[in-house]
Amino acid sequence: MTGSVQDPKGCFPQAFRAELDLLMRLRRDVRRFRTDPVDEAVLTRCLSSVALAPSVGLSEPWRIIRVESATARAAALRNFERANAAALADYSEDRAATYARLKLSGMREAPVQIAFYCDDETEKGHGLGARTMPEMRRYSVVTAITLFWLALRAEGLGLGWVSVLDPEALSRDLDVPATWRLIGYFCIGHPERLSDTPELEQEGWEQRFDMLPIETR
Ligand SMILES: Cc1cc2nc3c(=O)[nH]c(=O)nc-3n(C[C@H](O)[C@H](O)[C@H](O)COP(=O)(O)O)c2cc1C
Repeated sequence: MTGSVQDPKGCFPQAFRAELDLLMRLRRDVRRFRTDPVDEAVLTRCLSSVALAPSVGLSEPWRIIRVESATARAAALRNFERANAAALADYSEDRAATYARLKLSGMREAPVQIAFYCDDETEKGHGLGARTMPEMRRYSVVTAITLFWLALRAEGLGLGWVSVLDPEALSRDLDVPATWRLIGYFCIGHPERLSDTPELEQEGWEQRFDMLPIETR
């Protein structure tokens, strides 16, 4: 399938490229969600983007846990709150005060919560590309998450990546196989607001680079 929208050189139309650029610019990490439910058909459509992602050796090492039960959600929230308090304690003075003001997860409100794992020992792909760099399987999961993120944004939904967690404790609480490694915990839902500026910039935590750090050798 080559797609009828492309021209004979395989190029997508200018209007499409402009919109793709806009989608990438307006993708945000969202922590402030409305609590109304997400349409299951829309979520399924967005999740299907995961299957389109590149993966080392075509290993498709992504494993997805939908965190639905009150018990599992409470354990994940407790995990975040402990890790967040420990992170706060590592900062001092103004940085600590700014950190304390940040909202770093939407786990109390987000109607959909999903943990993405990598199966570090999958035999799919027969080890191609992962012999010297086994972490490539984990990077493959990150590429899939990026596609999912953009697909959600295109549907007007937000995703918030939560990494302020103890991964071993979460894996125990979610009862996942020992060979799976947590890549990220994701809050998903309708954003309370949209923005073209990362929230960490708005809150004075950090700025985007002005220029890409590209060097030549
Ligand atoms: C690997 C990864 C982990 C992240 N972990 C968190 C997190 O724990 N909490 C949070 O609020 N944001 C987290 N973020 C979101 C970043 O803070 C955000 O991407 C960055 O500030 C740029 O904002 P933008 O995504 O809206 O462009 C994470 C993002 C990535 C890629």
